[in-house]
Amino acid sequence: MHSKRLHFDIKIFDSNTELNASDRKLIREAKDAILKAYAIYSQFMVGAAALLEDGTILSSGNQENASYPLCLCAEQTLTGAIRSHDPNAVIKTIAITGFSLDERYLPPLAPCGGCRQILLEWELRQESPIRLLLKGTEDRVVMIGSCKDLLPLAFDGRYLPGQPLSEEPEMPLDDEGPDDSGGDSGIE
Ligand code: THU
Repeated sequence: MHSKRLHFDIKIFDSNTELNASDRKLIREAKDAILKAYAIYSQFMVGAAALLEDGTILSSGNQENASYPLCLCAEQTLTGAIRSHDPNAVIKTIAITGFSLDERYLPPLAPCGGCRQILLEWELRQESPIRLLLKGTEDRVVMIGSCKDLLPLAFDGRYLPGQPLSEEPEMPLDDEGPDDSGGDSGIE
């Protein structure tokens, strides 16, 4: 038995002004996209904006339904819009933000687990990382270099029959990395 520590790095910007103009603009677009949300049930509106490789910016909001399980996150309606715009689109960066009608304080918005899986699928297809810019109601912005960082030990298409076997699934169990044997991982 040995333990292994998995980690990823994020960048935290205390304010928008520390970002470059392109990232600032994308966050502004995500903020504006809050108005595209249809969130009459949760009253939690999410806006997401994507910068594509060709410079196009597309944005969308969450879309709810009286049948709650049919609610779609902003990231899902956004990826649908991108696919409709160009099925081969390459996404460089996605900015995500939100607003709760009760005006509660929101830390930088974290994509839900399902959206992490959806974004990972895009990243694997396009074979290049999608950066994320996460913003809440505060000034702070969190930057994540790649969607796969948000979903360690992910399930992906490479486990499935008929998919290319040349690449191993991401589960980083056999690679050379720091061995944390003896560390307090909480794993018995
Ligand atoms: N929501 C998103 O749009 N993105 C996320 O990553 C988290 C949650 C939406 C779904 C639902 O309409 C509302 O927020 C409350 O869960």
